[in-house]
Amino acid sequence: MHVGVLTGGGDCPGLNAVIRAVTLALVRECGARVTGIERGFEGLLHNRTRPLAPADVDGILAQGGTILGTQNRCNPFRDDTADGADRSAQAMQTVRALGLDAMIVIGGDGTMEIAHRFARLGMAIVGVPKTIDNDLCHNERSFGFDSAVAVVADALDRLATTARSHGRVMIAETMGRHAGWIALEGGLAGAADLIVIPELPYEIEAMAEQARERLADKGYALLCVAEGAHEPGGEALVQSSLAGEAPRLGGVAHHLERELASRLDREVRATVLGHLQRGGTPTPFDRVLATQLGFEAAQRVRRGKFGCMVSLQEGHFRSVPLTDVAGRYRSVALDHPLLRAAAGLGIGFGTAAR
Ligand code: F6P
Repeated sequence: MHVGVLTGGGDCPGLNAVIRAVTLALVRECGARVTGIERGFEGLLHNRTRPLAPADVDGILAQGGTILGTQNRCNPFRDDTADGADRSAQAMQTVRALGLDAMIVIGGDGTMEIAHRFARLGMAIVGVPKTIDNDLCHNERSFGFDSAVAVVADALDRLATTARSHGRVMIAETMGRHAGWIALEGGLAGAADLIVIPELPYEIEAMAEQARERLADKGYALLCVAEGAHEPGGEALVQSSLAGEAPRLGGVAHHLERELASRLDREVRATVLGHLQRGGTPTPFDRVLATQLGFEAAQRVRRGKFGCMVSLQEGHFRSVPLTDVAGRYRSVALDHPLLRAAAGLGIGFGTAAR
């Protein structure tokens, strides 16, 4: 059996752990040949590959990023790096020319959408969920998320000591696109006083009042704000929009810095955590989760179960049809236990209602 592996979309701590697990499981359990496709689907268009043997994946478990490279602009069904033409047939031809019996595709919602379209063209394909945002449908935890949360918690710990020393309001802006998972868990882990997420649109006067209360209580305030946060009826702030790419979100922390500074009698400072949340070594939790997902994907290839994504549901690994995850995302439910716990501890959400 000959199996191709690729990583698509943004990088994420734990990708190498999946590549390693897929390779070791397929080689050791059924003597398969494994080939890495470089830079996501672009590698399929331009036949850029490399063999993956156990020696090639030695020492990569704890490495961040992806040894195969990735990028989030190449969609073979609409090649944005060239003239907008549909090059899916070219990718299918590469798969045939390489003699690949199956493909394992590691990525987020965009990658799963492309995988779904290839599955409909007859490619034998298994998806592995990847995103620091933790927002893939039918999957309760994705690798990379724990590592991102650890960065946010560490940043808040650091911001708290300087906030306390100066009596300031400190705002940390997290990633997460339109879902608030990173800000919610990171904010809880880092003892934020206010956690602001897209699922609960903020009202600036309510937010200022909650910050004022914290300043009165303890002399400083720590805010953890998701990049997708917005006011009721408003939209997330967009930093830039390039053709063929999802809009780049960002800027809400600096916006709130200005808005709060004009309402509070205190200094307000914003820090954007940005790609620090995506870089570096995966946490042990993410290494283990990524390893399990890679192993499970290899089992589906061995059993000939294609057109699905491996997913974690209630502690078990299941197969979800790609059609159910393609191009969709999972936000924080308003009755989520973490929100209830946060509210119970007196954490503000910048909303008037809670
Ligand atoms: O989806 C992962 C993510 O890190 C988001 O949280 C963020 O909005 C986006 O990717 C950033 O993408 P890029 O690295 O392409 O700017």
